[in-house]
Amino acid sequence: MAARSTAPSVRARKGNGDPLVMVTAYDAPTARIADEAGVDLILVGDSVAMVVLGYDDTLQVTVDDMAHHVAAVARTRPGAMVVADLPWMSYHLAVGDAVANAARLVRAGAEAVKLEGGRKRIPVVEAILDAEIPVMGHLGLTPQSVHAMGGFKVQGRSVDAARDLVDDAKALAAAGCFSIVLEGVPDQVARMVTDAVDVPTIGIGAGPDCDGQVLVLHDLLGLDDRTPPKFVRRYARLKHDGVAAVRAFAEDVRARRFPGPEESYHLSDGVAEALGLYAGPA
Ligand code: KIV
Repeated sequence: MAARSTAPSVRARKGNGDPLVMVTAYDAPTARIADEAGVDLILVGDSVAMVVLGYDDTLQVTVDDMAHHVAAVARTRPGAMVVADLPWMSYHLAVGDAVANAARLVRAGAEAVKLEGGRKRIPVVEAILDAEIPVMGHLGLTPQSVHAMGGFKVQGRSVDAARDLVDDAKALAAAGCFSIVLEGVPDQVARMVTDAVDVPTIGIGAGPDCDGQVLVLHDLLGLDDRTPPKFVRRYARLKHDGVAAVRAFAEDVRARRFPGPEESYHLSDGVAEALGLYAGPA
C-alpha cells in the first residue's frame, strides 16, 4: 500500500517528475470515489458552493459549511491527504480569527488548509503555520476575488501581472506554503512560476507544466452537463447516465414492473396460509 501523502511528502515531490494528483470531494461518496482511484490529495474546496449547493460563486459558504463537508470527507478515513479551503472572509479580518478558523477545519478532519492570495496574505499564512497547520497557497484566477477581477477571468496575461504572480508565488513559498494551486493562468506563466519556486505547483487551467493537476470532481465526472470551462476534460457523463437511470426507474414504476418479487419481502408459506393468503406457487 502506498504511504499516505502528508504536507512534507507533497512538498518533497517538487521536481521529481511524478505529478501530484488532486481532486475535490465534498461528502463521503465523492471522497470514496477519489480515494479508491488513488489520488494524492482530496481538496474539500469552497467550490462546494457552486457545484453542490447551487450558488453562482464561492462567496456564500461559511466556516460552518466547510467544517460540515470536511467532516463528511474525513469520516471515510481516506488514504489521500485532506486539504480544506478557508472560505471567503474567514481569513481577511483579524489574523487570530484566521488561525481559529483554520483550527476548526483541522478539528473537522483537514490536514492542511488552502487560502487565496499572494504577498498580502503572508502575515496570515505565517500565523497559521505558527499554529502547526500546513498551508497551501492559491494564485491566479482566485474565485473569492470574482468581483475584484470583474468575473472568472484568466489572470497573468500582461508582463506586470505575470511578474506579480511569480513574486507572489515566491513569497508564499518563502513563507512556508507546502504547495501552491495555480488557477486560470497562461501555460507559459504557470511554467515561469513553477520554475521560480521550490514547492510544487498544482495547476487547474494552467497548462501541462505544473508539478501536479487538480480538477473539480463533478466537472471530470460530468455530473453537470452545462458547458464546462476550457480546461475541464470530462471522463464520464454521470448527469446523462443519472437522468437515463431515473427515467428507467420511473417507467418501471408506471408500468408496474418495479418492484419485482426479488425486490420484495415475503411471508413464509406457513404464515401466509394461516392468514388465509395464497403463499405462492406450490
Ligand atoms: O474550490 C476549489 O475547488 C478549488 C479548486 C478549483 C482548486 O479551489
